[in-house]
Amino acid sequence: MSKEIVVSGIRSTGNLHLGNYFGAMQHYLKMQDAHQCYFFVADYHSLTTHPDPKDLKTNVFRVVAEYIASGLDPEKAVLYAQSDVPEIPELYLMLNMLAYMGELEKVPTFKEKVRLNPDNVNAGLLTYPVLMAADILIHRAVKVPVGKDQEQHLEMARNFAQRFNSRYGFYFPEPHVYRSNEETVKIMSLDGLGKMSKSENINATIYLNDDDDIIRKKIMKAKTDQGPQETNAIMPDYIQNLFLLLKLTSKSETYEHFLNAYNNCTVRYGDLKKQLAEDMVGFISPIRNKANDLQRDDSSIRKILKKGAEKARESASITIDGARKLIGINYY
Ligand code: TYM
Repeated sequence: MSKEIVVSGIRSTGNLHLGNYFGAMQHYLKMQDAHQCYFFVADYHSLTTHPDPKDLKTNVFRVVAEYIASGLDPEKAVLYAQSDVPEIPELYLMLNMLAYMGELEKVPTFKEKVRLNPDNVNAGLLTYPVLMAADILIHRAVKVPVGKDQEQHLEMARNFAQRFNSRYGFYFPEPHVYRSNEETVKIMSLDGLGKMSKSENINATIYLNDDDDIIRKKIMKAKTDQGPQETNAIMPDYIQNLFLLLKLTSKSETYEHFLNAYNNCTVRYGDLKKQLAEDMVGFISPIRNKANDLQRDDSSIRKILKKGAEKARESASITIDGARKLIGINYY
């Protein structure tokens, strides 16, 4: 039986953080054996914010290095840069004809970008979800591992697929969000103000390339309070986030120990943070060190991207040929 097709990507807009790891990459790792996976670097998407051309390659190579250092295997999953697959922008153009201004303007992530950068409301931002749909549909994927913030984009990808199918005949299966567990959909920043992010809340976001002391400092500064005032109290979301990180990176006995302490009001957040900081250092430092080694080896990343682009184009060119025919672009 052929394997189910999986697509996902991460923008090359800065260093990857725990949100990217637990919201997306940990699912990639779990999926790479049993599925046909395409994981890419969304470098075209990053152009919406006008990065400096001299940083682009470093950022793209860093994402690839962090993918591999986290455990992605280029022999199992196809790893590539979005801009190496010209069939993606071609499908994006086709889908743009099926996407309507009104629906694009209503997307919350677009409205948020307009609010934050009123001087740069470019058409690429508006049609961001269309390019994302093209990324997914180009391999006719059915499963898409992403964090909670991307769910609406997935809904739009399904809408564009349905519209294509009803106009030109059934062609694209509907892609759905997929996660190997349900509890890690959003990692908040450690100051309790919003989510961990590549470019905002940087002092309260833990990056996969943070050094050990920075990790310790950030965790020790995480927002807490005077502690629960009654047994089995409901946790405020910033405390819940610390417990989530503890669950994801510490031994289960450690997590249980602090959870019991919380529930019977004896928890000491200083101790919890010290333990979490050490476990986080143990979790991140091997990934960081391996990614640093890989990034110094420019030629091996180049080889991985080249081979990945060839494999991605094999699948993409079949999809685009079929789409052209259905649309009627079939002249010779
Ligand atoms: P990007 O680069 O913003 O984020 C990459 C992945 O990380 C997840 N994520 C988080 N999850 C939990 N907590 C957080 N704090 C957190 N921050 C980020 C995101 O949900 C995402 O899964 N539009 C995508 C890139 C993209 C894409 C695609 C993804 C382009 N085309 C096609 C899937 C399929 C994005 O902005 O990711």
